[in-house]
Amino acid sequence: MPYIREIITDGHPTLRKVAKKVDLKELDDPLFQQLIDDMFETMYAAPGVGLAAPQVNVSKRMFVIDVNDDEHDPAVVINPKIELAEEEVELTEGCLSVPGYVGEITRFARVAVSGLDRNGEKIRLEGGGLFAQCLQHEIDHLNGVLYIDKAKNVRLPQTDEEREIAETAEA
Ligand code: NI
Repeated sequence: MPYIREIITDGHPTLRKVAKKVDLKELDDPLFQQLIDDMFETMYAAPGVGLAAPQVNVSKRMFVIDVNDDEHDPAVVINPKIELAEEEVELTEGCLSVPGYVGEITRFARVAVSGLDRNGEKIRLEGGGLFAQCLQHEIDHLNGVLYIDKAKNVRLPQTDEEREIAETAEA
């Protein structure tokens, strides 16, 4: 059974580490598969649209994403790599590890990311909008970067839209 793990917040040293690449052998470990299930459970409970392993205090290069649109299925991405990034845009963003705040950040409008699924098969995710924003946000987590490092005007949310971003943070 999956269970909800604690999401660590800004100030915890794990969030600032460069996470380690996942070894293919780890995929056979039931505890690793459990971690993936737990990350989905934790993301949905938060609620959030993405969650990176360092946020549950596991310094490995993997994240889960579910932006709940018609174009993209929920996914876990292991050892992700950005293959394509196009056109810069300024977006409002929050983070489950920086609860209650939002800020303005420059992101790429469209990205493609390659990596492995939970069975070790190669996958490629591509898209724009919130999906692209979230992919970049989660990969930043794997490099020890929080959005507040790059964002302008980090603040308590002022509008309903900003409150929603703060509450369903990530992105
Ligand atoms: Ni985050």
